[in-house]
Amino acid sequence: MNILIIYAHPDYDSFTHQVLTFFTKGLRESSHTFEISDLYQMDFQTDLSPQEYKRESTTNTKLPIPSDVQLEHQKINRADCICFIYPVWWSDCPAKLKGWFDRVWTAGFAYSKDDQARGMQTISKGLVICPAGHPMSHLVETGVAESMRKIMLEDRLGSRFERKEMLILDNTLEGDEVKQLHLEKIYQVGLNIGSNFSTH
Ligand SMILES: Cc1cc2nc3c(=O)[nH]c(=O)nc-3n(C[C@H](O)[C@H](O)[C@H](O)COP(=O)(O)O)c2cc1C
Repeated sequence: MNILIIYAHPDYDSFTHQVLTFFTKGLRESSHTFEISDLYQMDFQTDLSPQEYKRESTTNTKLPIPSDVQLEHQKINRADCICFIYPVWWSDCPAKLKGWFDRVWTAGFAYSKDDQARGMQTISKGLVICPAGHPMSHLVETGVAESMRKIMLEDRLGSRFERKEMLILDNTLEGDEVKQLHLEKIYQVGLNIGSNFSTH
């Protein structure tokens, strides 16, 4: 498989970066190919320009798409699986990734009106991996886990993906032991990406 990783964390010393390292170690060992859109490192522009806003708000697909967005479209259309790796910040992804969706999920590509074909291929697998400081019990009780799944899996990934899964790596504020267990699991997820996909 060819896997596209959309990675959003500003600091390579972070736990989220360790997650990326363990995941890609698993991918390498299972001989999958992958490429990474490292959004902070790319200094990916996340604000819509007035021209982009006009295009998206009117769904006028004749208006141009900026070249950096076109590059992301090309990466998406050569991927069998897209994996999003980011820390949970204020119960959602960092603004950097939200802005990626704002700009990259363009009309005519990620969705289309009137049943016209969209430019984006349907991707076999969508995997979301997000470390979170709170324990799962807290994320479930407050409804945050459900809301993250709904927004990310059902809305943003939506029908663009055949199978979708979100792995919340919870309770990271507890310390290194918890984090180590998460890293071992993520290495296995990378290693078994071809088969290991439990939810739909
Ligand atoms: C700005 C910011 C907001 C955060 N918001 C949340 C949150 O809403 N829920 C949560 O469970 N953890 C939250 N956290 C904790 C991170 O999700 C947690 O530390 C995660 O493991 C990422 O760690 P890392 O930055 O070392 O990669 C937040 C951390 C930061 C820096």
